[in-house]
Amino acid sequence: MYEQSINDPVPFWTPIAKQFHWEEPWTTLHASNFDRNAGPVSIKWFDGAKTNICYNCLDRHVLNGHGDRVAFFWFGNEPADARTVTYSQMLERVQRFANVLKALGIKKGDTVAIYMPMIVDLVVAMLACARIGAPHSIIFGGFSAEALSERIMDARSSVLVTADGAFRGTKFIDLKSIADTAMEKCKTRGFEVTHCVVSLNSGDKAPHSVNMVQGRDQFFHELEATAELECPALWVDAEDILFLLYTSGSTGRPKGVVHTHGGYMVWTATTFKYTFDYHPSDVYFCTADIGWITGHSYIAYGPLLNCATSVMFEGIPTYPEADRYWAIVEKYKVNSFYTAPTAIRSLQRFGEEMPKRHDLSSLRVLGSVGEPINPEAWIWYHDVIGNKRASVVDTYWQTETGGHVITPLPGCTPMKPGSASLPMFGIVPAILDKAGEELSGKAEGYLVIKQSWPGQMRTVFGNHERFELTYFSQFSGAYCTGDGAHRDEHGYSWITGRTDDVITVSGHRMGTAELESAMTTHPDVAESAIVGVPHEIKGEGIHAYVITNPGVETDVSKEKELKMHIRQEIGAFATPDVIHFTSGLPKTRSGKIMRRILRKIAHYEEDSLGDISTLADPSVVQELIDSRPKLQ
Ligand code: PRX
Repeated sequence: MYEQSINDPVPFWTPIAKQFHWEEPWTTLHASNFDRNAGPVSIKWFDGAKTNICYNCLDRHVLNGHGDRVAFFWFGNEPADARTVTYSQMLERVQRFANVLKALGIKKGDTVAIYMPMIVDLVVAMLACARIGAPHSIIFGGFSAEALSERIMDARSSVLVTADGAFRGTKFIDLKSIADTAMEKCKTRGFEVTHCVVSLNSGDKAPHSVNMVQGRDQFFHELEATAELECPALWVDAEDILFLLYTSGSTGRPKGVVHTHGGYMVWTATTFKYTFDYHPSDVYFCTADIGWITGHSYIAYGPLLNCATSVMFEGIPTYPEADRYWAIVEKYKVNSFYTAPTAIRSLQRFGEEMPKRHDLSSLRVLGSVGEPINPEAWIWYHDVIGNKRASVVDTYWQTETGGHVITPLPGCTPMKPGSASLPMFGIVPAILDKAGEELSGKAEGYLVIKQSWPGQMRTVFGNHERFELTYFSQFSGAYCTGDGAHRDEHGYSWITGRTDDVITVSGHRMGTAELESAMTTHPDVAESAIVGVPHEIKGEGIHAYVITNPGVETDVSKEKELKMHIRQEIGAFATPDVIHFTSGLPKTRSGKIMRRILRKIAHYEEDSLGDISTLADPSVVQELIDSRPKLQ
């Protein structure tokens, strides 16, 4: 299949795509240009076709007689909170909510911001957007008011769908208060969110009642209850925007990655089916949050397009106890389970006793995503969770790729712990050296993809030039992933991590430039440089070098204050592990910070600093080594 997918894409993709409903057929299956010298970069799949992904996720299955199939087993933060929702129920709710959005003035092309916890209303809201051709822009519920407001403004979303709040373990996340602050920030910056729809999730359990602003805020359930039942899916172009999702790069502010109805549909459905070897009647459980791409592609769209039954989980793996995932696997007899290495490593710490409490024999496929998985965690996952029987699929992909691009297929690809193995259908990876020369055989270098695939991002929202510069300028004629990879003698890929200034902390991707600019908005900070450091559980941690303004006391309380500042600017998941006060940074004579040196010092690798003679002031290196905070 792989050979055909790259040599003969038309006969490969045509029968796959025809499993979906296209109101009008495509005129061209695929056309793309990756070469900036030959004109603007453009990527088109199923061009000319009309379809709607929401119709393909819901109506198609209900019309085929699968309306009673469970779409989601929803499980709340409290183990007593469990609900089941079928495909027909989803269809009814989505139609009503699509009518709600229309009544709020949302038309095709208008973006809708969604800031919600892991509840079924979130999927209802996103599919309702898709149904009427309104791109959704989901902002992860862990982002701060500042980050939320920036994303609302960038996408100019006049409607925000949120919830009163959510419990994560015993901690209450006051989503609506954060959303209120974000909407206020938008207003003072000249943009108004005119409608805010609030799902009542925490209700009476919340520490305080939810603040509702008259004329702007309305309850989700009240609007839904009075909305018309029917709302036929709008037929949109295959290349119309389905959603934007903000992600971090090495420079500038986060960018809105754009995916479209047609290609993303075919890609997420196909990768879900093959990577998880999905069969009807299987139960699938992905622990990601829908606020990130994994949740978009492999909690919402991929499974729904396959009429799959999924578990959707609102809580955290350690509440009430650290066996929560394993209890869920046993309760719903989960066949495929998908999580991140950071979760595996943290659960591994609780020992084998936790998984041994439960019958995990239903598990057949175990997925990993978001960061390289170290062989030790891989082996524990395979041996203890998978009882040495289940296949482990280490799926390498990105927000930009829409779905898996390098991954083993269960039962088909021989596994090697720590390797994402071989390319998915239609993916032609290559390893390049710094000069852009393709390396053959066993090699290590920059990972690029040479040919377009259906789920590839199409542009950066509102900034096509940034799209071209970010992904197609470093190496001409290929999509640059930003990752390094090593290819072994069997052609297996081993992802070595980012080659740019992006770090991945607990699977959350962030740009060091974005963290630095957040740090320097603190009035006491003159300059900051941030690097990633290896971290046992999180994969990477954050080491922040900070130069304060003259006269500022650099003590423990300032350290705490700066950490809190980052939480407020971005979110708790971006809190630095180390604040390293210094009076200078290693700069070249032209003023460029030499990050290589900062990394070496933060990694305790000063033995291999390399040449420091080009620094404007080499003495700063010793100061940095001496002032390094003790490892905790
Ligand atoms: O560095 C790679 C890492 O995560 C980055 C993509 O992050 P994001 O867009 O947030 O998407 C995460 C979920 C797909 C990649 O550039 N990454 C993702 N999966 C793997 C990985 N690194 C190694 N192995 C993986 N399986």
